[in-house]
Amino acid sequence: MATLKVRKLKSFPVEISVPGDKSISHRAAMFAGMADGTTVIEGFLPSEDCLCSVKAMQAMGAEVEPLEERPGAGLVKLAVTGRGPKLQPPAGPLDCGNSGTTMRLLAGILAGQNFTAEMFGDASLSRRPMKRIADPLRLMGAAIEGQGEKICAPLKITGGALHPIQYTLPVASAQVKSAVLLAGLFASGKTTVIEPVATRNHTERIMSHFGVKWLREGNAITVYGGQAPRATDIVVPGDISSAAFWMVAAAATPDAELMLRNVGLNSTRTGIINVLLRMGAHITHSETDTAGEPRGNVMVRGGDLSATVIGGAEIPNVIDELPILAVAGALARGTTLIRDARELRVKETDRIAAVAENLRRMGVTVTEHEDGMEIEGGARLRGATISTYHDHRIAMAFAIAGLFAEGETVIEGAECINTSYPGFEHDLALFSETRESGAQIPVLSQAPGK
Ligand code: S3P
Repeated sequence: MATLKVRKLKSFPVEISVPGDKSISHRAAMFAGMADGTTVIEGFLPSEDCLCSVKAMQAMGAEVEPLEERPGAGLVKLAVTGRGPKLQPPAGPLDCGNSGTTMRLLAGILAGQNFTAEMFGDASLSRRPMKRIADPLRLMGAAIEGQGEKICAPLKITGGALHPIQYTLPVASAQVKSAVLLAGLFASGKTTVIEPVATRNHTERIMSHFGVKWLREGNAITVYGGQAPRATDIVVPGDISSAAFWMVAAAATPDAELMLRNVGLNSTRTGIINVLLRMGAHITHSETDTAGEPRGNVMVRGGDLSATVIGGAEIPNVIDELPILAVAGALARGTTLIRDARELRVKETDRIAAVAENLRRMGVTVTEHEDGMEIEGGARLRGATISTYHDHRIAMAFAIAGLFAEGETVIEGAECINTSYPGFEHDLALFSETRESGAQIPVLSQAPGK
């Protein structure tokens, strides 16, 4: 097991460029694999999660040509030649590693295929609820077998002729929305997803980019069946969820100035900026739109942070940032409240329990609620041994906490960071003396999630 040791912040870099957006990289691999023709994906995130999506599409007939490997980061540019939306049956079960996005979005694609395929994942993914995608996909006519009441992985999906549905999301989940929209491409007629609370809209945007027609009326998104994505090169922006770690490090350091380059600024993802502004950080950004996704440079100037309340419709927009925002809460003056975030309990680990436990180990008073937590800010953090439960965002959030703690913070199981941010340790070393874990950068030929 890789262990990352972090010491107190000692310097501040001028700028950082974070790796590609995870959500967009998954979708780029899937849409390119379903298109008829070659798509060049630039700025791809070569994390274990996204490589699972690439390998799954490869296993179903897409051809993948690596174009650029960056030292310390991995495969950042690739050409994917798809076979059109009707894929080939894979030779064996598809390995989704730790990736809920791979499994849930692929389920939508598999629901439309004329074959049976199996998907499996690691121990964490095998505990996560797949009923949320099985329910609508079954309504559309797919046969889905899974384990227990929560329909956990391994999953067996037999696709075929799908009927269109109108489906109101019972949980605010972009993955469920995307699974239904993807299956809708294979249904005869109009499939509509109604989202009571807005979730990230990368699937809608990438559909437009690949020439797939869809319509938004209020909170209803409709896709027309029988369309084939058109191969189109795509440039993936940096991941704001990865930039979030450095945003908090800078925001909580008086007089710090940090420029984050080429960050994705899709408004369904920029909640982290709004929360930090509310907490007293100084953040400005420029914005351009390339390949259908807004992006730009983000300048963060640090100051004294004060507590805030994070809840309601804002939650889906910051769902992946809540662990690092909890750390920001610990560094702020006053009591920060996170509520309406029950979904955190079914992420890569139970993130409410994991954040509360590890903050307490560092000397913070935390009250855990079923749907969130209260964090008493302002305590002096002390270095501690952190249990990540193989969750990349817990590992990185507490590596940042370690920059503000007295003594050494030991992140156990740090190899999970490669799920979303290969190169994190290198960037962290710009802030502090770290002893690197020696975790390997993932490569395309290596078994994912192992
Ligand atoms: C994602 C959606 C979110 C997010 C996950 C990526 C996506 O999950 O937490 O990291 O790419 O669609 P849910 O849809 O389960 O909220």
